[in-house]
Amino acid sequence: MADYVQKSGQKLSTEPYKGVRDFYPEDQAFLNYFIDTCRGVVEKVGYEEYHASILEPVELYKGKGAENEEIIREQVYTFTDRGEREVALRPEMTPTVARMVAARRRELAFPLRWYSIPNVFRYERPQRGRLREHWQLNVDLFGSRSLYADAEIIGVAYGLMAAFGATESDFVIKLNSRAALDELCASLKLDDTKKKVLMGLLDKMGKVPTDEFAANLRGLGLTPAQVLPARPPKEIAQLIEEFKNAGISNIVYAPEVVRGFNYYTGVVFEVFDTHKDNSRALFGGGRYDNLTALFDEDPIPGVGFGLGDVGIHNFLESRGLLPSYTPPAKVYIAIPEPRLAPHAQTLAGLLREGGVNAAIDFGERKLGDQIKNASKHKIPYLIVVGEKELAEGRFVVRDLGSGEEQALDKGQLAEFFLNI
Ligand code: HAM
Repeated sequence: MADYVQKSGQKLSTEPYKGVRDFYPEDQAFLNYFIDTCRGVVEKVGYEEYHASILEPVELYKGKGAENEEIIREQVYTFTDRGEREVALRPEMTPTVARMVAARRRELAFPLRWYSIPNVFRYERPQRGRLREHWQLNVDLFGSRSLYADAEIIGVAYGLMAAFGATESDFVIKLNSRAALDELCASLKLDDTKKKVLMGLLDKMGKVPTDEFAANLRGLGLTPAQVLPARPPKEIAQLIEEFKNAGISNIVYAPEVVRGFNYYTGVVFEVFDTHKDNSRALFGGGRYDNLTALFDEDPIPGVGFGLGDVGIHNFLESRGLLPSYTPPAKVYIAIPEPRLAPHAQTLAGLLREGGVNAAIDFGERKLGDQIKNASKHKIPYLIVVGEKELAEGRFVVRDLGSGEEQALDKGQLAEFFLNI
């Protein structure tokens, strides 16, 4: 029986379901930071926010060519509802957004720039960077075949890394072309099965020793030189050149980048962490010109990417770039005795009216403990409301970080906090 289920006579475990997280306030604060940072970057480029339900009919992921994909076979959470419909928890957002765009194609104006930050679910083996639920920024541009649309999307990916505080040496963006890969497979006369095996080998190339990779290729009758062209196709070279001209030099050609989904048709890319202990893909995406064909004869081209919160958190943590936590309350009001609670409330009310977030203690613990708790909550300032302070209408504001104190009249308090 699953370990989170109550066993007879035992208390329930406090663990969440395997592979998902509880968001305690500091975790939620990071998620909010992730969301706000993503919003700031994509809205600057004109992307509009959309949203959809977590639930989708399972057919959405069983479209053309998808049946063989690992994500469908093994990773989609499904259940049958009371009306015998097979329902999925979305494992990604791209089929959903393709459906939404196809549904309104006549009303929508193209090029269309949309983003969303949904939670998505995949039945994966939980490990570093991989969970069963994560939040994923999706940025997609529909209705353009221009290489400048691909460039915009890659530029947004770059802009996100910069907004999170990364510098060019912290990451590299690797580009390849699915179209070029298709041509290569055709020229090597690989059938669909062999092609799929090759894509899997390329995808895992960075994670296996070079000789093992070569041995695996030999199994297909191929050599590394055949499947890893030294020179990029024209469009990839042009993209790299354009970014160079714009002063961005960490965008490179990488023939092993293929990406997991079958729907990509053109440029594909992955953003890699360059940290020696964490050399892994942080996120990625690419061009998919046929996805809306699931719903309509006449497909609308799309290009976009997905960026998960888990990988970014690990990346920022390993670089010392995580923002420090600040709780909502700026000031904590402590009292030496419970009967002073109404006075604490009145003072807090005055501060709140003046635009300052304030939390109060009810005086049930010793004053020293109240102060310790305020520090534990990481609230930056403290005011103790005692008889003397109330009589004088003057309060000591203590900076709980530095220990510095300052006495201020009641009327000066809100102003003081607003200015720090
Ligand atoms: P994906 O590469 O499967 O692409 O996921 C995008 C990103 O989501 C990953 O690079 C990673 O940051 C994060 N991610 C994926 N799975 C997990 C997991 N199990 N745990 C934590 N993070 C994860 C897609 O989903 C495409 N639909 C992206 C896209 C949008 N392509 C075009 N538009």
